[in-house]
Order: sequence, then structure tokens, then C-alpha cells
Amino acid sequence: KKIVLAYSGGLDTSIILKWLKETYGCPVVAYCANIGQEEDWEAVKEKGLSTGAEEVIIRDLREEFVKDFVFPAIKANAIYEGGYLLGTSLARPLIAKEQVKIAREVGADAVAHGATGKGNDQVRFELTYMALAPDLKIIAPWREWEFKGREDLIAFAEKHGIPVPVTKEKPYSIDANLFHTSYEGGILEDPWQEPPDDMFQMTVSPEKAKDEPEYLEIYFEKGEPKAINGEELSPATLLERLNRIAGVHGIGRVDMVENRFVGIKSRGVYETPGGTVLHVAHRALEHLTMDREVMHLRDSLIPRFAEMIYYGFWYAPEMEALMAFINETQQNVTGTVRLKLYKGNVMVVGRKSPKSLYLQELATFEADTLYNQKDAEGFIKLQGLRLKVKAMLEKKLI
Ligand code: ARG
Ligand code: SIN
Repeated sequence: KKIVLAYSGGLDTSIILKWLKETYGCPVVAYCANIGQEEDWEAVKEKGLSTGAEEVIIRDLREEFVKDFVFPAIKANAIYEGGYLLGTSLARPLIAKEQVKIAREVGADAVAHGATGKGNDQVRFELTYMALAPDLKIIAPWREWEFKGREDLIAFAEKHGIPVPVTKEKPYSIDANLFHTSYEGGILEDPWQEPPDDMFQMTVSPEKAKDEPEYLEIYFEKGEPKAINGEELSPATLLERLNRIAGVHGIGRVDMVENRFVGIKSRGVYETPGGTVLHVAHRALEHLTMDREVMHLRDSLIPRFAEMIYYGFWYAPEMEALMAFINETQQNVTGTVRLKLYKGNVMVVGRKSPKSLYLQELATFEADTLYNQKDAEGFIKLQGLRLKVKAMLEKKLI
């Protein structure tokens, strides 16, 4: 009847748009989510229409993206396999959620996306469709069509008058939003090969970073970033500002080989300048305000939380349950962190909070009243008891 396609305006989704019309013979609505990527939206609109879309719908999701997807991940210190801050993984469920909403608005009965059959993105899109709109038909052209390789695609584009960019295509695939830019594929597939420096869009290299360090203060309320240097900012504005500040200091580049959900190891290069600063700052504030056992319990769940996001289970009951726990842990994570940015590094140099659990009197080595050093003697003796018994048995001392 009608298909809503998650459309980017690029070559691949333009081909998909044409292919859908040809294969399914029904109107296609091209939907484009603005999540902070650099784009000429007028041009995207025109291109979608001239490629045959019945309608092109562009939605500005920037504030929602940062508030409801990026900040929850920051609150949880989410990081996948020790390096990836999940910039693409967090965007997919939002894009898909809005797509479902549009499908309802325009009376469509199918949704389509441009993710390949070998990656994570297909899973993230489709799990979201299934969780939010189980009745909609899902179309994944990359898994359906007969095209063998790029040449087939280009030939199809040329046959249908879809402009193929004359400028040589970038030798890697890019995915960008307000949180990060990711690069993979093409020349990056050799994990020994250093990425070319002109690839990066959000950061300069540490070598080319400013020669002066920059100090920065970030204020958090219940784990959520609220202000930079005393200026209160909306979520998207705050992250945008932070990206610019951290970018000129070369902060937030990561180059890693990661495990895709589908079982493939893949090399990804990421730049997450503002997000890296938030990640470090948030953790520092937790160090000051969070109870030890709550922190250690929460920390044990970070890999699981990151995995759920990476695998695409954003709209899942286990995610809801875990999110409730994470929000509970953030009740006292309020205060200010002072950072120094310099040549690719973000260093914590100060922290303060009305909810601080840090007692200088307790930490000090001077005499105090709360803590009696004599108490430590029995504490250690009992902690070590079983170690001592084992050693004595081994050495036949008892
Ligand atoms: N490997 C990252 C992830 O799975 C980035 C994926 C980038 N996606 C893309 N369509 N270029 O989240
Ligand atoms: C894709 O295959 O569409 C991009 C990479 C990924 O989803 O992991």
C-alpha cells in the first residue's frame, strides 16, 4: 500500500527508493531524521522528490536524541568493549521510532531501511520496528535485491537517472550525528592501516591541537549534564558546544576492532569529542558522590547495558528494568567537575558537590574521631583468616 523509507539523501538510499517503487509498485515516503549530521536539507528534499518519493519528511530529532538517548548512556557510563561510546547504536532506535510514527501518520503498512545484511544497524532498526509496531511489514532491500556488488548498484542508478557523485566516493563509510562520527569499511578494513588524518570531521589530531590547555566546568544534575562554565544549555546545544571545545583539543578519537552482533569482527574508527568529555566528567562526579557498593554493582552492569544498546535492544523489558536501576543510582550525582583539555587528553582537575560523600576529616592521616585505627586490626585479621588457615595447612603448621 505505502512504504516509509529511512532515507539519507545519499546514493544508497536513493537507489533503494527507486528499487522499492519498481519492486513493490506503491508510493514511497522518504523520511529523513536530523540528528545533528551536516546536511543541506533543502537539497535532500529535492533529491528525494526527484528520485520519486511521494513525499519527503524531515524531522528534527536533535534535542530528543541527546536528552533521551545520549544522556541516559552517559548516566550509565555506557561503553562497548572498552572503547566505543555507541554513537550509532543510540541513534538507530530513535530513527526507527520516529519512522513508525510517520508510518501511522501517512497510513503506510511497511517500513524500509538501508542497512546492509552484514551489520548491526539492520538489527537495531528491525528490533525497534518489532517492539513498537509488530503489524508493519519490514523491507530490507540489501537482503532482498539481486545486485551483486557496487557496480550493479551504480549501473542501476545510471539506468534510472539517479545522479552518481562524480567526485570520487570516500574510500570508507561514514555515519554522523551530534554525538559522534564513525568510519568503517573500505581502506579501514585493514586493521594495521592507520586512518588518514584528513578523514576526521569533528576533531583535529593531537599534534595539531591548540598549544594552550583549556579549563572547563561541567555541571550535572542527577547524572545529567546541565551547564558548561555556569551557562545552562539545552541538551543538544550543550553537546554541540562541547563538541567544538573538545574538537580543537583533539579529544575523543578511538580506533578499535569490535565484535558485531552478527558474529563479524569489524574495524571501526570513531570521534566522540563532547561525549568523551562528558563520559570522563560524569565518572569523576560519581567518584565523589556515589556509594561504593552501589557503584560496584552498577559497574558490573555496564558491559551488559552497553551490549543491549549495541545489539539493538533499546525497546526491551530488560532495558526498562535496568534503566530504572540506573536512574536510581543517579539521584545524588549532582555537582560540578573541573577539567583540563590538552592535546587529546581530558584530565579531571577538580570536583565539588552538595551531595559529596567525601569527608576530608575521614580521609586525612591526622587524628580523627570517626575512624579509630585500632578498629582496622580486627577487620584485617578476620579478612585474612581463611588465607592464613590455607597457608598454615599447606605449610603443615597446623
Ligand atoms: N560499528 C558501529 C556500530 O555498530 C558503527 C556503525 C556505523 N554504521 C553505518 N551505517 N556506517 O554501532
Ligand atoms: C551496515 O552494515 O549497514 C553498517 C554497519 C553496521 O550496521 O554494523
